[in-house]
Order: sequence, then C-alpha cells, then structure tokens
Amino acid sequence: MPTPLVTLHPATPDDQPTLRRLMQLYLYDFSEFDDVPLDDDGFFGHREFIEEQFGPAHETFLIRADGQLAGFAILTRGSFLAHDLAINDLTQFFIVRAWRKRGVGASAAQQLFARHAGPWEVRVIDANTIARAFWRETITRYTQGNFAETRTDSPRHKGPVFTFTTRA
Ligand SMILES: CC(C)(COP(=O)(O)OP(=O)(O)OC[C@H]1O[C@@H](n2cnc3c(N)ncnc32)[C@H](O)[C@@H]1OP(=O)(O)O)[C@@H](O)C(=O)NCCC(=O)NCCS
Repeated sequence: MPTPLVTLHPATPDDQPTLRRLMQLYLYDFSEFDDVPLDDDGFFGHREFIEEQFGPAHETFLIRADGQLAGFAILTRGSFLAHDLAINDLTQFFIVRAWRKRGVGASAAQQLFARHAGPWEVRVIDANTIARAFWRETITRYTQGNFAETRTDSPRHKGPVFTFTTRA
C-alpha cells in the first residue's frame, strides 16, 4: 500500500463539532486502559475536561491522510510536569484506526516537531504500550537518537516521558 500524503490543518471554529466527535473515538480507545466514564446518553469522558482540551490554552490540528480526516493533535505551550513555559507539550494525539500502521502518525508528529522548533515533552501512560513503542520509534528517527526517555511517578502523570529538542 502506498504511503499516504499526510497534512496538518490548524483547527478553525468550524472544526469544533468534528473535533468533539473525534475526541469520543479517542476516549473510547483510552477506556481500554484508563478510567473513562460513559454517561447514560452514550457520551464518553468528563465534559469539562473535553471543553478545556479545546480551549484557548491549547493549539489543535486536524490530521488528514490523502485528504481524508485521519486524526487530531493537541499541543500546549509549557510543560505539564515542570514550570517551564519554553517546552512544547504534546497533550493529545490520535490517528483513527482505519489509517493506523501506515506512517500517518509518524508523519504528522514529524510535521508538528518541525513546526514548533524547540524543546518538547511527550508523555505516555504506563498501560499504553503501543503509544510508547510509537513515540520511541518516531522520536528516535526524528532526533537520530538524541532524546531522553525517563519516568515520572507523580499524581499528575505515571509513565514514560520523552524529552528532546527539534529544529525548524
Ligand atoms: C499511537 C498511534 C498514534 C500510532 O499511529 P500510527 O499512524 O498507527 O503510527 P505509524 O504507522 O506512524 O507508526 C510509526 C512507528 O510506530 C511504531 N508502531 C506504530 N503502531 C504500533 C503498534 N501497534 N505496535 C508496535 N509498534 C507500533 C512502529 O515502530 C511504527 O514504525 P513501522 O511501521 O516502520 O514499524 C495510534 O495507534 C493511535 O492513535 N492510538 C490511540 C491513541 C493514542 O494512544 N495516542 C497516543 C497518546 S500518547
């Protein structure tokens, strides 16, 4: 299968309903290894948390593969773990199942890293072993091995943390 053409699109106000629907798919995937509430009306997740994720503190991108909707990414300026506003935090990252394992995630991540040159932090929860393998591989290739993989065990985050610096 040919490698798809992956493009990043900064989210506009018109994209908000689309993003909320994609977020439902993302949280459904996460419910496999984290506690995600399901309301009686079939809505996944904490509504306040979801609204905050699409709020002004974050930068959101839609990801397209060969022109088709394939996922989204949410970035935050500032570390989630330390008081350092210079760090780019990769807050959420999602590729829909139909496009997985075709290099879409890796290509989208590379474009994000180049777009925001500087220090980065990528956090993964312990149980998400696929994401850990994905980030280790993608960051290794992008930085040519010039990154650190550590662990944090705090109330805010338990699991691996990748730190590295990118150039435009
Ligand atoms: C993790 C995720 C983003 C990967 O996206 P993807 O487009 O399928 O990844 P890619 O095809 O670009 O994979 C790049 C590399 O990551 C690794 N990788 C990807 N999926 C993997 C899997 N299921 N098992 C092991 N390694 C995997 C491989 O090394 C792969 O390189 P290769 O294809 O040359 O072997 C996707 O599975 C996803 O959205 N998962 C649910 C949400 C999530 O966990 N997000 C991350 C939160 S930190």
